[in-house]
Amino acid sequence: MEKRPFIIDCDTGTDDAIAILAALYSPEVEVKAITSVNGNICERYVCRNNRNLTALLGKNVPVARGAVRPLLSGFVNEGHLDDTHGPTGFGTIQLPEAEQVFDPRVASELIYETAVEEKGALELLVIGPMTNIALALVQHGDLAGLIRHIWFMGGAAVGGNVTPTAEFNIWVDPEAAKIVIGSGIPMTMVGLDVTTKAIMTREDADALRACGTPAGQVAADLLAYMFTRNHSGGEDALMHDALAFAAAVCPDCLTCRDCFVDVETHGQCAYGHTFVDQRGRTGKPANVSVALEVDVSMFRKWLVDTICRSAGEK
Ligand code: RIB
Ligand code: CA
Repeated sequence: MEKRPFIIDCDTGTDDAIAILAALYSPEVEVKAITSVNGNICERYVCRNNRNLTALLGKNVPVARGAVRPLLSGFVNEGHLDDTHGPTGFGTIQLPEAEQVFDPRVASELIYETAVEEKGALELLVIGPMTNIALALVQHGDLAGLIRHIWFMGGAAVGGNVTPTAEFNIWVDPEAAKIVIGSGIPMTMVGLDVTTKAIMTREDADALRACGTPAGQVAADLLAYMFTRNHSGGEDALMHDALAFAAAVCPDCLTCRDCFVDVETHGQCAYGHTFVDQRGRTGKPANVSVALEVDVSMFRKWLVDTICRSAGEK
């Protein structure tokens, strides 16, 4: 079976890293590149984390640098926000420092050129703010017709995490999200409605460590950091980003509904809110498949099994 070509656009990020591990060892996909964006941590740490991770795993995947700030919101995290991802975005884990070699193209250009090369088969896993994707769409009018599907972690049909009504990835760059979500590209939204239920356990971490590979060890170490973070009042081991990838390759993990979705870019108290019309009240055509339910045990098993496929590459 031909592998599906993917680009991962991310703000690595502890949960981003686990999503990257799953994608790199998934039998269904070929990761054509990993592109960085400012979000959980500033972009210079994101690209470093992506480079160090792929080098540790011996994966020869192009790593490209991307937007260092949002289109308009101005949010840049210099590592002092909180301990959700730690001071450099990788918790307290120190990966071996790889040579910081990056693809010569910026993220938006690499995304476009790869989309052209893949002749409409390229899928995007978007697990940080959407700045790079929006830039690519604004720079290349034909890009929207060249992307098969966008699988994104972001937003929520109800609620928020960075404000009561906005989820972090969308809140960092709502203008970019509005451009992408309004692009007409087929897409699936994996938001807080389901990601806040996708919690890994200590048994999962033990199983990952037991597979005896660098990928399993990094995943287990990241979970251990998340458990510690949670113990001190922080977020639990929520697999926001890995669940967005699961939507692409483990469709039975999620139940989705086609909805009209838009983004609030002018609200005084709802800036970055994802407006999800679950009941068709606007009369506007659905533009996003929105994940509303998750089979957590199926997801957890899929994630551990997928990362442990690294044992077969020893
Ligand atoms: O709100 C959760 C999202 O924000 C995840 O993508 C996490 O990595 C952070 O970027
Ligand atoms: Ca992320």
